[in-house]
Amino acid sequence: MSAELGEVRETWEHLGSTDPYWAVLTEREHAGGDARASFFESGRNEVQSVADFLARHGRSIGDVAVDFGCGVGRLSIALAERCKEVSGVDVAASMLEEARANNPHGDRVRFIHNDASTLPFEDDSVDFVLSLITLQHIPPRLSLRYLLEMIRIVRPGGHLVFQLPSHLPMPTPIAEEFCRAEITVLNAPATAGAGESQYVELSVRNTSDGAWPYGQLLNAANHWHRDGELVRRDDGRVTVPALQPGESATVSLRVSIPAEPGDYELELDLVQEHVAWWEQLGNATVRVPVTVTGAAAAAPAPAPVDEATASEAVEAAEPAAPQPASNKSMQMHGIHTDLVRGLFDQLGCTVLEAATDQRAGETWVSYLYLVEVGEYELKLRS
Ligand SMILES: C[S@@+](CC[C@H](N)C(=O)[O-])C[C@H]1O[C@@H](n2cnc3c(N)ncnc32)[C@H](O)[C@@H]1O
Repeated sequence: MSAELGEVRETWEHLGSTDPYWAVLTEREHAGGDARASFFESGRNEVQSVADFLARHGRSIGDVAVDFGCGVGRLSIALAERCKEVSGVDVAASMLEEARANNPHGDRVRFIHNDASTLPFEDDSVDFVLSLITLQHIPPRLSLRYLLEMIRIVRPGGHLVFQLPSHLPMPTPIAEEFCRAEITVLNAPATAGAGESQYVELSVRNTSDGAWPYGQLLNAANHWHRDGELVRRDDGRVTVPALQPGESATVSLRVSIPAEPGDYELELDLVQEHVAWWEQLGNATVRVPVTVTGAAAAAPAPAPVDEATASEAVEAAEPAAPQPASNKSMQMHGIHTDLVRGLFDQLGCTVLEAATDQRAGETWVSYLYLVEVGEYELKLRS
């Protein structure tokens, strides 16, 4: 297995064993009861909208479907209400354990662990592959490999529906004199278990004379220090909403506790992605002490209901320092839509539609693709 894939697997094993429902849908807490029912209802709605997407082009899902990056089975289970056989594939055994427990359809739905860069299906053996909010977390080199594999396993005339971000539009830099904020820590763990995830609640106030506009990649973010040294530069990210001068907002930042026990300082700052960390522009940061213990404490704090928590890690203003092995936060990746369209075109497939899509959050230009697999003599074979 490549180091890249090993890292992806490690991240998702960790998320699947600590907070699997949050890891799938970051914007809501799905711990149990009604919330769990609404989680699976969201899967049914997604599959309905995918069926409508196909139907607009006179196509349908077919009998045999694969859900790539199935997580806890949200989409696989909904797909099984429409087709005969569904295989959910995931890199994380911890996610699949939960998926199997959730499956009401018996052996019409199989959950398959796969930590290879190939897919465990015969050539031309399935009608349909679905992949939502998964490729966006996989480095492009690997995603391209999986797209080729999807073409291989789908029979000619079958379909792929997948969502994939394309690129981040560059933000307009906020004028330096308006990069002034008061950051107040409302709630942070004084002690936390090595390697776990925790939420830090912050109040952020615009203390400048200018507005912070909407959609310009302004985030609250954190670093970790130990013995006076910066040991981790990039960790959590959460969107800071548009704020007029004097206005403030409360945001919840999910941070990853370092893997090594010891006494740390958690530093909170604002960053406009691709532009600057605000400390570099003279704005004050805030630090709080956190003692990291050897044993992970109980479950991480619940995700507050806050649309800002839907924000995921995006590229930092400057190249990130090498990440220690304990970095288990989700990464976001995109493949430019011109490359995606060109790839399918060259391989004899037809992109029937690339619909703009919001699943990667408001900061990304992202698409939901509907591809018809062609009869192509050079179609890659296993
Ligand atoms: C955000 S969840 C989405 C789950 C599901 N698609 C849904 O919408 O409910 C992403 C899932 O992709 C899985 N994943 C990430 N990389 C993968 C890979 N290389 N192969 C298979 N699954 C992968 C993760 O383990 C995780 O379960």
